[in-house]
Amino acid sequence: MIRVAYDPTLFQGTATYYTSGRPPYSRDLVPTLAAEGRLDGSGRLLDVGCGPGILSLALANHFEEVIGLDPDREMLAEGARRAAQSGLENIQWAQGRAEEISTLDLGMFRMVTFGQSFHWTDRERVAEMVYDRLESGGVLAIISHAHEGRPQPEGPGYPPIPHEAIRALIERYLGPRRRAGQGGFAQPTDPHEDLLARTRFGVSRRVFCAGRDDIVQDIDAVLANYFSMSFAAPPLFGDQRARFEEDVRAALTAYSPSGLFWDWPGDTQIVLAGKTGQGKRS
Ligand SMILES: C[S@@+](CC[C@H](N)C(=O)[O-])C[C@H]1O[C@@H](n2cnc3c(N)ncnc32)[C@H](O)[C@@H]1O
Repeated sequence: MIRVAYDPTLFQGTATYYTSGRPPYSRDLVPTLAAEGRLDGSGRLLDVGCGPGILSLALANHFEEVIGLDPDREMLAEGARRAAQSGLENIQWAQGRAEEISTLDLGMFRMVTFGQSFHWTDRERVAEMVYDRLESGGVLAIISHAHEGRPQPEGPGYPPIPHEAIRALIERYLGPRRRAGQGGFAQPTDPHEDLLARTRFGVSRRVFCAGRDDIVQDIDAVLANYFSMSFAAPPLFGDQRARFEEDVRAALTAYSPSGLFWDWPGDTQIVLAGKTGQGKRS
């Protein structure tokens, strides 16, 4: 188990930076999920660790009802605000942790998504809970950006975001241990497929959708990207925040006098597992 107790300060202060800073998923993600889940506008989606509703909103038109589940109130408020702005009325927002799926009265789902959120959970226990909440034939989809082993495209001609330099600055301010809320965080090392093999899902497979190679961000957006991360959440910097921001702006200007950067998030990876009704345990 990676995290035992949920720390409510994990993403504190990040929600409003999320949509302006985080690079979007592949344009092929939604069509791929629609095809994999044979989505036809009926059924229900549970989007776990929904944050400001990135997947909830993107998939809303493919379901009758969507539940965005997240423990962070600010994220849910941002999701509700964005849904209202887009005129989407079939999304409900529920406050809770993935580890509470079995005790929350959420009903049954055709698809359950985790967008960059599965690694925050007690994965094996949560996968079993998800299995129970999926209709027969339903699909679990674990989505993230993937760089490793993926070909890097040409890009639109601006310098890439100097991630190493920014991470070095973060380390100078916050220390070498990757911060997360009140504590630290260690990324799970075993692939989701290995973990799912130990659950009733059994078999899973990995699909890649081509990442967007044309994302150009200005300095504000690069800063917003980092302030949307748990390891660089604004409250972690305390009264050093303005100085940190100044240092990042100076470093970015030195890297790109135009103030523009190429943001290559990598391809979008989906780990897919289906509920066949023939799970190992019942
Ligand atoms: C990186 S954001 C992902 C947001 C969105 N799903 C996306 O695709 O961009 C991770 C989200 O996971 C949520 N989270 C953290 N621990 C969680 C847990 N134990 N159960 C459910 N969600 C959790 C955080 O509050 C945060 O909103």
